[in-house]
Amino acid sequence: MLEGKVVLTGVKPTGTPHLGNYLGAIKPVINLGNKAPSHYMFIADYHAINAEKDPGVLNQKLKEIACVYLAFGMNPEHTIFYRQSDIPEIPEITTILYAYTPKGLMNKSHAYKAFVDKNREAGKPDDDGINMGLYTYPTLMAADILTFNSDIVPVGKDQVQHVEIARDIAGAINAHYGKELLKLPKFHIEERVAIVPGTDGRKMSKSYGNVIPLFEDDKAIKKAVFSVQTDSRPIEEPKDPESVMIYQIYKAIATPAQLQEMAAGLKDGKLGYGHIKNMLLDAVIAEIGEAREKYNYYMNNFHLVEEMLAKGAERARPVAKETLKRLKNAVFGR
Ligand code: ADP
Ligand code: TRP
Repeated sequence: MLEGKVVLTGVKPTGTPHLGNYLGAIKPVINLGNKAPSHYMFIADYHAINAEKDPGVLNQKLKEIACVYLAFGMNPEHTIFYRQSDIPEIPEITTILYAYTPKGLMNKSHAYKAFVDKNREAGKPDDDGINMGLYTYPTLMAADILTFNSDIVPVGKDQVQHVEIARDIAGAINAHYGKELLKLPKFHIEERVAIVPGTDGRKMSKSYGNVIPLFEDDKAIKKAVFSVQTDSRPIEEPKDPESVMIYQIYKAIATPAQLQEMAAGLKDGKLGYGHIKNMLLDAVIAEIGEAREKYNYYMNNFHLVEEMLAKGAERARPVAKETLKRLKNAVFGR
């Protein structure tokens, strides 16, 4: 499926990720990127400024997200890894795309609509706190994608609409000029990745405070794992594994053999909650592996990451320049 394909991934710098983010979003992207013949991966800092106005906070988040991907094995020799704001052709291309972006399409965009809904719930005017960056977000995202002739864009479900908007805009431009100026991208959703539950059984999420951290010490990880809710059924009572929260989290991380072992132990009344918590803890620590040390290393030696990002931008810009030239040629007839 990946033969000859260009895969492009964008991430917003949004704070230190947890186990759910890693299993649900980061790991699949790294795996897909490493397999893809050509992989672009960028940090969407122009997107981030719509919400985050403090450069100190923004920079810290950017640092963290860059180091997370490197720590978990993204290979910057293979992947073209850059900061969006280091590619000035992207905002230029965005400006051209605006001329082909129907306003009605922006009105329907989820990111904008979610904000309007929140305002209505709070009894505020519809457009309260909404800047043009947020409103036109899908056009910038279309430029991110179309600039690099992307075939495949791996995204979460919430971003599918944005990739389709990119397709629509590219289609309109191609139709107008009667040639394939821009490649039509497709979204890709990793179907197998389920929502990882948190320590209280709800979706693991920063906003619920129910996360298993990735980059804290063993003690903190153990504390989180041991806080996963259990009931008072005795060890010897046979249990349906699906009714046990620890098993639900384990499903996202264990090998089939490990999972089978835990399921059998629960069904036979041979494994107690303390035991299975330790099994989960071992699996989490094994999954994190050396990523914690690597993360700290990159965070403490960020100049190395800066160099990688600069090199990534150097590799990306010739492609961006080529796309911009192609578009300007068509648009201005020169
Ligand atoms: P949070 O809910 O902690 O704020 P985000 O909404 O910032 O997380 O999600 C970032 C990425 O991680 C998204 O792609 C999302 O699909 C994924 N993700 C977040 N929480 C989970 C989870 N519990 N299980 C699987 N994937 C998740
Ligand atoms: N909008 C994406 C998100 O919120 C981030 C993003 C920006 C992106 N530009 C992109 C993702 C281009 C894929 C391709 O997660």
